Amino acid sequence: MHQITEPSLAGSPYKHAVPVEEPYRHITIDKLTPIIGAEIGGVDLAQPAPEQLQEIHRALAENLVVFFRDQHMTKQQHTDFGRHFGELHLLPAAPSEPGHPALLIVRADRETPRTNGESWHSDGSCDPEPPMGSILCIHECPPVGGDTLFVNMYAAYEALSERMKTYLDGLTALHDGEQHCRGIVAFAGMQDRICYPRAVHPVVRTHPVTGRKALFVNETFTRRILDIPADESAGLLAYLFQHSAHPMFQCRFRWKPNSVAFWDNRCTLHRAISDYWLGRRYGNRVTIMGDRPY
Ligand code: SIN
Repeated sequence: MHQITEPSLAGSPYKHAVPVEEPYRHITIDKLTPIIGAEIGGVDLAQPAPEQLQEIHRALAENLVVFFRDQHMTKQQHTDFGRHFGELHLLPAAPSEPGHPALLIVRADRETPRTNGESWHSDGSCDPEPPMGSILCIHECPPVGGDTLFVNMYAAYEALSERMKTYLDGLTALHDGEQHCRGIVAFAGMQDRICYPRAVHPVVRTHPVTGRKALFVNETFTRRILDIPADESAGLLAYLFQHSAHPMFQCRFRWKPNSVAFWDNRCTLHRAISDYWLGRRYGNRVTIMGDRPY
């Protein structure tokens, strides 16, 4: 297994900017917007070459979420592709494919009471060490509808006023999985957990690869900002959620069967659009483990 090591820019003159402009030699890149998202071509994710894996990793750092079309990975190949980028989360309390405990089932149809990921979130931000990234392959989707939105949280941070950046500096927030996750696995015949993960993270985190600062709050998991009055926290979070959902920071991905999205949870939020009632959408996601935010 070829394991990608995350490039460290610490100590380099490029610490605060991902180097761009160097051409890609082993994959093609087609940007969705200037701010976030790129479609990658010229690679078969079932058997990627080491040079292609290296360039996919670089493309992820530069574009925050990358997309692939017409990929025909087996369940094992999907898992293997994820493992190139780190250890995978096993999902004892979530529906996974039989024999593939790291392969989450993402399913919505007329039987499912709610769609996975319908509100803005960063996967598992309520974990003490939230995931670095997630790789979702959609096998089946409605002809229209069921798109996913992604937000660039570096851009959301950078667009804040200098006074707001100063105010947020050093603040931490409580992220809690209970409210969102309780009841979500019942459609798969699974029991709720007795308790759900919760963790305190900085409101602004530094990306360990790019060295850039990103806003790290989301409406699904972030419950309150600590060390300020409750009403001030509620007002501030409402502002930050509204600010980070500005279309200027977003891209929108339209799925086709066998499309893949690979996003960086450390500097993006995403949201699945549930606008296809009576349609069916089915896919699998692997989630790559990450580090404690700082
Ligand atoms: C998720 O939040 O991981 C699911 C996103 C999607 O289904 O588009």
